[in-house]
Formats: sequence, structure tokens, C-alpha cells
Amino acid sequence: MAEVVIVDDEEAAGALVADAIVALIRRKPDAVLGLATGSTPLASYRALASRIADERIDVRGVRGFALDEYVGLPAGHPESYRSVITREVVEPLGLTPELVRVPNGDPASIRTAGADYEASLLAAGGVDLQILGIGRTGHIGFNEPGSSLASLTRVKTLTEHTREDNARFFNSPDDVPMHCITQGIGTILRARHLVLLAFGEAKARAVAAAVEGPVSASQPGSAIQLHPHTTVIVDDAAASGLANLDYYRHAWAHKPDWQRI
Ligand code: GLP
Repeated sequence: MAEVVIVDDEEAAGALVADAIVALIRRKPDAVLGLATGSTPLASYRALASRIADERIDVRGVRGFALDEYVGLPAGHPESYRSVITREVVEPLGLTPELVRVPNGDPASIRTAGADYEASLLAAGGVDLQILGIGRTGHIGFNEPGSSLASLTRVKTLTEHTREDNARFFNSPDDVPMHCITQGIGTILRARHLVLLAFGEAKARAVAAAVEGPVSASQPGSAIQLHPHTTVIVDDAAASGLANLDYYRHAWAHKPDWQRI
């Protein structure tokens, strides 16, 4: 079962995520971070940037792999996930840009981009800690409902629901690309530690389905139940659909001091 941690807000979640990543980098200076986009992880990236600056942690060797990218946005488009990862992660954390990869959404090479990304992940030795958000459709990365639980990095068609959700980042809903390239669920499950974050009422159903529902391709988030080390960090609103809430609070309150998330 995933460990479920209920926190007051995104800042409290960010402190936990930053703790885990700082400990990882101290242990492994060339750690491989799995990076999610979307609004959810932003407070965690800010917390991590502060810790790195305050404690003067050397992150020059840290490597990163983004989960996904839109297909067909022009190079340098501000909402491409390459731009978002540069703006929200690489620059504030002070990572080495060449060590942070994002799937290549250029239509010219899209047929081989998935296999290329898988090869890069394998060559890097895999992801040590993967940050995940979850979409209202239950998607992780851009693995929409129906995605194979064994899937690898490949091109997917976005649901209209997800395009509507992401329209807030674009001038018009029609500007949201129809296709994306995303790490598969099988790819995500290879990471050594999954940290899934979710905040707000709108995520409550997806969180409940991911943590307590049947494992099913219809709820891609439920794949976390197949992973031996998953931490789910949620606020009260996102946790509100969980049946075993009392137990999660009890287990967290009695967590052995020596254990990290
Ligand atoms: C996006 C991303 C996901 C993200 C999810 C939730 O479209 N592809 O990686 O986890 O949808 O987004 P948000 O955090 O903005 O709610």
C-alpha cells in the first residue's frame, strides 16, 4: 500500500518533498529526479530551491527527466514542458541544463522519440525519485484512462477533458495540442520512489481511485498500488474521498523516527 500523508497545505507538502530530495542528493550527488509539470509540484520546487540555496547544496551533478511533453509546439513556446521545466525547475534549482531531459515533441522525429527517451532513461540508470501529479481524469504523466499498465514512452492523444483543464495555460482552448509524448505507466513504475502530490477537492475522486480503487488501466493513477515504495501527499480536500483516512493519519503519527518518506 502507498503511504498516505495528509498535510495542511502545499507548503507543508513541499517541505516533505524537499527533505526527501535533499537527503537523496546528499547520498547520491548525481541523483536522477523525475520531474512533473502542472501546478501541483510548484510549491515543492520552490521549497527545494530554498533548501538548495540556504544549505549551499551542490546540485551540478543532479540529473532530471520530465514525464511528458506536448507534440508540435514550436521550440521555445512558453508552455512547452521544456520551457516550463527550464523556468520552474532548472533555473531556480540551479541544475545543469544539459543534464535535464524532456521528451522530444518535434513532429519530425516523433516516431522514434519514445524509444530514444527510454534508452536515455536506461542509460542514466533509471529515476531515483519521481514526482507525480494526477489529473482529474486520473492520469499520471499524460497516461489517460485506458493506458496500458505496462506502457512505455510513446505518443498519446489527450482527452478533451485534459485539453480543457490545460487551456488555462494557452490563449485559447484550440491552442492546446491534441497529442503528447509521455513516459508510460511501465516507465513510471521503474522509478525507485514515487511521490504523488494532489491538492484540492477537484482531485479527491482521482486520489481515492488511485489509492484505494481497483488497479485498472481505466484509472492510470491506480498503478501506484503496484509499486513497492510510493508516498502520496495530499491536503484534506484531496484526501476527502479516502475510506481509510483515520488509519493513514494514525500510521503517519506513529511513523518510526528513522524512516523517511
Ligand atoms: C498535466 C500533466 C501531469 C499533471 C496533471 C495535473 O496535464 N501532464 O503531469 O500531473 O496534468 O496537473 P495540475 O498539477 O496542474 O493539476
